[in-house]
Amino acid sequence: MPEKKLSKSDMKQFWQEAHKKDMKYELTGSSAEGVIKFLNIDQLIKEASDCLVIGVGFGYETKYLTNIGKRVSVLDISPEALDRVKDYTVNRYLPDQLEKIKAESFDLIISHLVTQHMPNKDLEHQINQSIRILKQNGTFAMQFASRYKDNNDGLTSDIPVPRMMAGLVSRSLKYMKSIINKFDGKITWRSTPIFLPHVGHHWYGIHIQKNKPMNKMHPWYDQPRWLLSYSFYILKLYTARFYLKLKSKS
Ligand SMILES: C[S@@+](CC[C@H](N)C(=O)[O-])C[C@H]1O[C@@H](n2cnc3c(N)ncnc32)[C@H](O)[C@@H]1O
Repeated sequence: MPEKKLSKSDMKQFWQEAHKKDMKYELTGSSAEGVIKFLNIDQLIKEASDCLVIGVGFGYETKYLTNIGKRVSVLDISPEALDRVKDYTVNRYLPDQLEKIKAESFDLIISHLVTQHMPNKDLEHQINQSIRILKQNGTFAMQFASRYKDNNDGLTSDIPVPRMMAGLVSRSLKYMKSIINKFDGKITWRSTPIFLPHVGHHWYGIHIQKNKPMNKMHPWYDQPRWLLSYSFYILKLYTARFYLKLKSKS
């Protein structure tokens, strides 16, 4: 039977159903400790005040962060999921509300077992917006799946719905880097990939931060030493030329 074409409403309905019926397999319910370890965010959590959890699941990460005193917001495709954590969060967003979030709002954004359920177009939008709403030194810690030969790099509308539902959307590290760079972000850490033989995937954990190109972020006097040396060199050349011209005239 041919696989069904992607439809956004099918995916939303699927997650709504999963949350309404507390479907254990679909929602996974990773422990907060497991997520923290995999994403290597122990220290980042200690330093963070404002956190955004993408993909609520059973809400374990969200509840943990709130219980240790962080201001936590969540983003999920399913209104039912947002409702699940309403007593533990300061703000709750659906994907199309990401644009409304003020720039530089979060120290830490986490996403665990979510990207492998998403089409590329939505993931690109999420990465773009997440980089925008990260504070200057904030980190977006994300898990994603990769499958070497069978990656869905660059596809916009051809990822079959059943594959997204099963969490089998894989992407190469190269592709992930390219979209992160496209939106002025950079990968500052990545885990050793973990191989999952039953699905044939490698799972990566990565840290994404805002890229801060020197000429965008700093005034001229803060530029690196080489720029200063280069400017002095040019100045010296022009002074020498001027001096030689003067001398030849006299
Ligand atoms: C497999 S669960 C993972 C939950 C949890 N983070 C964990 O590791 O156990 C995926 C969660 O992501 C949400 N989700 C799926 N697609 C999403 C999307 N495009 N944007 C935001 N959340 C999404 C689902 O509703 C669900 O809560």
